[in-house]
Amino acid sequence: MVEVNAQVSRLTDVIAAMDAQRGASLGEINRSGGEYARATRSVIVVKDGRNRVAAISSPEGAPSDPHLHTDFNEWWVVMAGEVTYQIGQYEPFAAHFGDIVIAPAGYRHDIRPTKGSHCVRMVVGPETSNHDLKGIEPSRLIPLDLAPPPNRIFTPLEHMARRHGTYKSWAEVVLFDQRNRANMIHQMPGESNRPHWHPNCDEWWVVLKGELEWKIGDRPVLRAGKGDVVFVERGLSHEIVTVGSESSIRLAVTTPDIIHHFIDDPTAPRPPKK
Ligand SMILES: [Fe+2]
Ligand SMILES: [Fe+2]
Repeated sequence: MVEVNAQVSRLTDVIAAMDAQRGASLGEINRSGGEYARATRSVIVVKDGRNRVAAISSPEGAPSDPHLHTDFNEWWVVMAGEVTYQIGQYEPFAAHFGDIVIAPAGYRHDIRPTKGSHCVRMVVGPETSNHDLKGIEPSRLIPLDLAPPPNRIFTPLEHMARRHGTYKSWAEVVLFDQRNRANMIHQMPGESNRPHWHPNCDEWWVVLKGELEWKIGDRPVLRAGKGDVVFVERGLSHEIVTVGSESSIRLAVTTPDIIHHFIDDPTAPRPPKK
């Protein structure tokens, strides 16, 4: 069972929950002439008041349903397998664990699971959306541009590690729009953030590397690792420490206008929740 907005959603549990859903096996699909749509399963992990964040799993070879959205930027964090995206007029590219992909509003996106029995992507979009607008297949493809973050169509995890190195802590915003701010944070072992809380938004993270501990309000310490999603509702303080010998990388998602109240600031209001 995966509960929406659980303090932690483990990737293994999310995949098990999708596997337990009714659907067709690959054998059945092949016998029925390739009705792959039945092999795609999903589970909602987070609802933060703006976004519905759902894991979607399909086996390689499942067909795509290209479409576009006119009113929001849709984006994904790839969680397992290989997923090939063709977005707008850009050449297709293959995305793997920890890679971030954005389809800006109005850009048609064609998503194909290309390697693995579980090609898992986590989609971030509004609570209601549809696939009604199919768009037009591009007649000519152009290479991805290599602009720096934020808001690259494709931000491979490896690109961020190469850009900044992994010998020191760093953070860089990889997505910033009217709905979300997604900050990729690399933290050395033993290091911690400055404990704080937010009055105006829930915060959630996807762990992309290493092991971390979350100290949330007065609750027992929570440990999370690669592939886990951690959710903290507004009004709760949080301190995040990298544990173990490896550095960590996490993607922190909030509103673009997030307010921080720091616990060590005597003039700041106290968190209302414990
Ligand atoms: Fe979409
Ligand atoms: Fe925070």
